[in-house]
Amino acid sequence: MATRTLKRIFLAAVFGLSGVLAALPPPDNVRIFSENMGLQLLWDPPVNTSNKLTYTTEYKSLSGFTTVCVNQSETSCDVTNKITPFGKYDLRVRAELQDQVSDWVTRNDFEVLQMTNISAPSVKLQTRRGEIEVQITDPLMRLNDFQELYRPVQYVISYWREGDVHKLEKRSDQSHVILSATLAAHVKYCVQVHIYSHMINMTSARSNHNCIKNSANDVVSGWQIMLVMLGSFVVVGAGTLLFFAVGWYSCRGIHYLHPKAKLPDHFFIPSLLPPLSQMDQFKGQPVELCHPLSIVLETPQPPLLDGGLHCTHPLQEEEQPERQGEKWETGGGGDGGDRALHSL
Ligand SMILES: *[C@@H]1O[C@H](CO)[C@@H](O)[C@H](O)[C@H]1NC(C)=O
Ligand SMILES: *[C@@H]1O[C@H](CO)[C@@H](O)[C@H](O)[C@H]1NC(C)=O
Ligand SMILES: *[C@@H]1O[C@H](CO)[C@@H](O)[C@H](O)[C@H]1NC(C)=O
Ligand SMILES: *[C@@H]1O[C@H](CO)[C@@H](O)[C@H](O)[C@H]1NC(C)=O
Repeated sequence: MATRTLKRIFLAAVFGLSGVLAALPPPDNVRIFSENMGLQLLWDPPVNTSNKLTYTTEYKSLSGFTTVCVNQSETSCDVTNKITPFGKYDLRVRAELQDQVSDWVTRNDFEVLQMTNISAPSVKLQTRRGEIEVQITDPLMRLNDFQELYRPVQYVISYWREGDVHKLEKRSDQSHVILSATLAAHVKYCVQVHIYSHMINMTSARSNHNCIKNSANDVVSGWQIMLVMLGSFVVVGAGTLLFFAVGWYSCRGIHYLHPKAKLPDHFFIPSLLPPLSQMDQFKGQPVELCHPLSIVLETPQPPLLDGGLHCTHPLQEEEQPERQGEKWETGGGGDGGDRALHSL
């Protein structure tokens, strides 16, 4: 019996003690909410409490706990302004009522960059020429820039005909994507986009379904333009060649019909030659006719030269025999010389 009473006293003491210590219950359902680098601690008021409680929140970095929110009645505390995207933090909260305080409730080791959620990108759709253009805008970060934090990223675009379960996917590292390959004109397509970060192996939330009716493909494609250009080049080239050829041949024709150099008239005596029809009558080897041809050169008289060695003056010719006669006289008899002179 003594042991029983001892047990009762012990239990009563324990319960009584715990009742004093747990005067103020701690906040309930304490959780971290973090999106786009924002960091919040949230909780619910302790159960079975009708008192008007207040709360204090602290965060712990390398240098220990620091108070962020004090004596507040709201059940959340935003610590974004106290942190960096690359930090790792412990967060804790407790309830307070006048001089009474509850135990701390702690959430440990929150790595902001690796654990924060990325919201969905915003998506704008446009259609023209049978293509759908998807313009994606990165979610806005509360700390730093999205690309600075997460690149390299890939934009993953799912698209499908409205009402169709079969989805197509296109991945791009550009935020402006054109869906063109397989789209039918005048058909409504829906698009959903999310972003994948290679850096930290993380996927953003998916955007809402955006739907748009595709436009008609009323424009010629690139290769058609190329073909038309090539065709026009060929046509223009051929036209130019033809133009020059026509010019050249007509020029030659005109020269032939109206030659610049006039031929002498006797070249145009057709009657000298037998007509071609008659020439056909000569069968076998053509007979070669030969006629003697004399060439007479009419050389002009050489001009008279004064005192030329080969040419003699008529007066000199008359004097010469006299001198010869004199010579004869001196050489022979006087009478014989005169006769000789007369005989000449
Ligand atoms: C991130 O989102 C998921 C899904 O909505 C949620 O369960 C989780 O608690 C979120 N994490 C943070 C840190 O907010
Ligand atoms: C809260 O009160 C209800 C009755 O009002 C009780 O059933 C419940 O067990 C209590 N919860 C706690 C955690 O004390
Ligand atoms: C907490 O706030 C209440 C009013 O909301 C005020 O009466 C009280 O003095 C404050 N306590 C401290 C410690 O600041
Ligand atoms: C990326 O995360 C997913 C789970 O979210 C995991 O299955 C996958 O193996 C991870 N990939 C790499 C390369 O870490």
